[in-house]
Amino acid sequence: QRRKPNCVVDKPITWDISNLSYTTVGLVPTMGALHRGHLSLIHRACEENHTVIVSIFVNPLQFGPDEDYYNYPRILEQDYQFCRQAGVDAVFVPTSKEMGIGLKNSAESSVIQVIPPHIMTSVLCGRSRPSHFQGVATIVIKLFNLVQPERVYFGQKDGQQLAIIRKLVADLNFPMEVIACPTVREISGLALSSRNNYLTGDQIQQANGLYRALIKAKEGFGSGLRRSKTLIALVRKELAQISSLSVEYIELVEPNTLMPIDIVEDEGMLAIAAHIGNTRLIDNIILRNR
Ligand code: PAJ
Repeated sequence: QRRKPNCVVDKPITWDISNLSYTTVGLVPTMGALHRGHLSLIHRACEENHTVIVSIFVNPLQFGPDEDYYNYPRILEQDYQFCRQAGVDAVFVPTSKEMGIGLKNSAESSVIQVIPPHIMTSVLCGRSRPSHFQGVATIVIKLFNLVQPERVYFGQKDGQQLAIIRKLVADLNFPMEVIACPTVREISGLALSSRNNYLTGDQIQQANGLYRALIKAKEGFGSGLRRSKTLIALVRKELAQISSLSVEYIELVEPNTLMPIDIVEDEGMLAIAAHIGNTRLIDNIILRNR
């Protein structure tokens, strides 16, 4: 005799999906003081998603003790206006408390943090900003979990950050696509940055030299130079002409793994960090065979 099943399904279960519409959410994480660089990410997100959310959060976890956390530009009303004009659906502006973190070095900062691979954080900006990318990774994961977007938008301007976030999304199986957006520049070539606000007119003239130096490398690469040392020397020579600029690093790395490269086989990211007065500026250029 057959045993009776505990549970009898007398009708097949059917799912009525006719009323379900699939919408995608795009997230643009920022620290505010929005400029045309951020706007390019926002516009791209608006083109590719039904719903676009911009987050604005000056993340204490990613600032070092002597960095500009307290002076970082905060201009929320103007940011809202930019977002409204761009067609953003929601601006998410949490407090540190709402993000579940206290200020750095305070008792509340005992939050679990995500530590990206040492090999990716011990090069470029990681040398002088040892816990910076840990702070970025931690906050970005929190934003991903809160917003649960299908696509997230990041700028090539912060090439090391982009590579680390790509790795994080892949390694921790976040079901989302990382979209990299090209660096937006002034006509002079200076990459837009919230920190450009700190520069005087004179310092802006000096800062324009960063892109000129990157272009020297691009031209050298175009004429067949492939050795990192040679390409870096071209950049160093150009930067040496700017009296008030002090170079922190000039490095050539593989853009996804951030491994230093001696000879650019396929593609390389030539990245610079430099100080003008108290302002630290970064920029990079991708050198590609194709
Ligand atoms: P923030 O410096 O505000 O930058 C937000 C995003 O805008 C980053 O993805 C950055 O690469 C991009 N961006 C900045 N300047 C750009 C430019 N000139 N052209 C194109 N994109 C540009 O990066 C951060 O904030 C934070 O680390 C964050 C990811 C929000 C985590 O706190």
